[in-house]
Amino acid sequence: MNKMNWLTEELADIKNKGLYRRLNTIESAQTPRIIKDGRELILLSSNNYLGLTAHPEVKKAAIKAIEKYGSGAGGARLTTGNTDLYNSLEEKIAKFKGTEDALVFSTGYMANIGIISAIMDKGDLILSDELNHASIIDACRLSRAEVKVYPHRDVSCIEKILRASTHPKKLIATDGIFSMDGDIAPLPEIVELGERYDAMVMVDDAHATGVLGQHCIGAADYFNVDVEINMGTLSKALASTGGYVAGSRELIDYLRNRARSFIFTTALPPPAVAAAKAAIDIIEKEKPAKKLWQNVALYKKGLTDMGINISSETQIVPIMTGDTRTTVEAATELERLGVFTQGIRPPTVPEGRGRIRTSLMATHSEQDINDSLDAIRIIKEKFDI
Ligand SMILES: Cc1ncc(COP(=O)(O)O)c(C=O)c1O
Repeated sequence: MNKMNWLTEELADIKNKGLYRRLNTIESAQTPRIIKDGRELILLSSNNYLGLTAHPEVKKAAIKAIEKYGSGAGGARLTTGNTDLYNSLEEKIAKFKGTEDALVFSTGYMANIGIISAIMDKGDLILSDELNHASIIDACRLSRAEVKVYPHRDVSCIEKILRASTHPKKLIATDGIFSMDGDIAPLPEIVELGERYDAMVMVDDAHATGVLGQHCIGAADYFNVDVEINMGTLSKALASTGGYVAGSRELIDYLRNRARSFIFTTALPPPAVAAAKAAIDIIEKEKPAKKLWQNVALYKKGLTDMGINISSETQIVPIMTGDTRTTVEAATELERLGVFTQGIRPPTVPEGRGRIRTSLMATHSEQDINDSLDAIRIIKEKFDI
C-alpha cells in the first residue's frame, strides 16, 4: 500500500487550478540587472528596496563579522548564542525607531509568530486587516485568541467590533505598507480607536522600515503617531535577514521571556546582524530612500500615462491581471521581454485578484525604469490589462 498516494492527487489538483509554484533561480545578486538562465533581466520585483544588499559598506560589515564572530551563532540567545553584536543591533534598532528597547528574531515571520502568540491568549481579541501578511494570520491562529478579520483598511468596522467587545485584552494588528497592494494602513484612525477602546496597536513595518516617513522609520513616522508594538523585518530595505520588535522596555523584557520563536531557536548568523546594522547606518547617513521615491514617481507616471490604474501609494506597485491564467502568462511574457517580476495568484491574493507585483529599488536607473515601462506597454496591449 502506498500511504503517500494523496500527494499525487493534491499536486495534480494544484496544477489543474494553475496554482503550481516553481522556484525561480537567479544566478546573480539582487541588483537592478540580474542574470537568470544566462540572460540579463531587469529585476522589478525585489524587496531589496534601497539596493543595500550590494552596498560595499554592508558587505564589508558582514565579512568583518564573520572574521570576528564566525559563520554561525552556535546557540540560542538565552543559552550560549548571545554576543555583543546582537545587543548592539537591538540598541541601534531601538534608537532608530525611537523606542526604549528592541528584540531581534531569526526572521520577520518568526517575529510575528512570537510576538502575537506571547501577548495574546484564549479569551482575548485580535482585530486583523483582511490583507495582513500570512505570518500575522498564522500568529493569530497560534495565539488561540478570538480573531475578527476586518475589511481592508475599514476603520468603521474596527470601531464596531471594539464597541461590542468585552474582552480583557484587545490588539489591532495591521501591515504598515501592504505587501501585495502597496497601500498604507490608516494608522491615525487606528491609533485613535486604540486609545478610545483600550486596544493595543501593532504595526508590521516589513515593507516600510527604511523607506517610509520623514526619517524613513516606518508607517508611524509617516503619520507622526505612536503605536505600542513596532514590528518589522531586516530582510527587505535593511538588506539582511531577521525580524525585530521595538517598543517599551517592559514589552521587550516580556517577549524575551515569553516569545517561543525567540527562545527556542538559534540566534541570527553574525554576518546578517552586522549587515543590518550597517544598513541602518547608511539609511541614516545617506538617505537612499530619496532616490527610491524619485524612481517610484517616474515609474508611476509612466504607468499612468499608458492608462494603467494605480492604487499603490508606495514602492510596491501591483499591475492587476485578474485571473490566474492571465497572471501567469503576462508574467512569463514580461520575463521574455527582459523584465523579471512575480505573478501573484491565490492563495497569496484573493481569487480573481491576480496581479504582477512590481517593486522599485533606489538603485534602478532611469534606463531600467524606461525599459521596464516599454515591456509593460507590450503586455498591456497583449493581455488587455
Ligand atoms: C508584511 C510582512 N510581514 C512579515 C514578513 C515576513 O518577513 P521575513 O521575510 O523576514 O520572514 C513579510 C515578508 O514577506 C511581510 O511582507
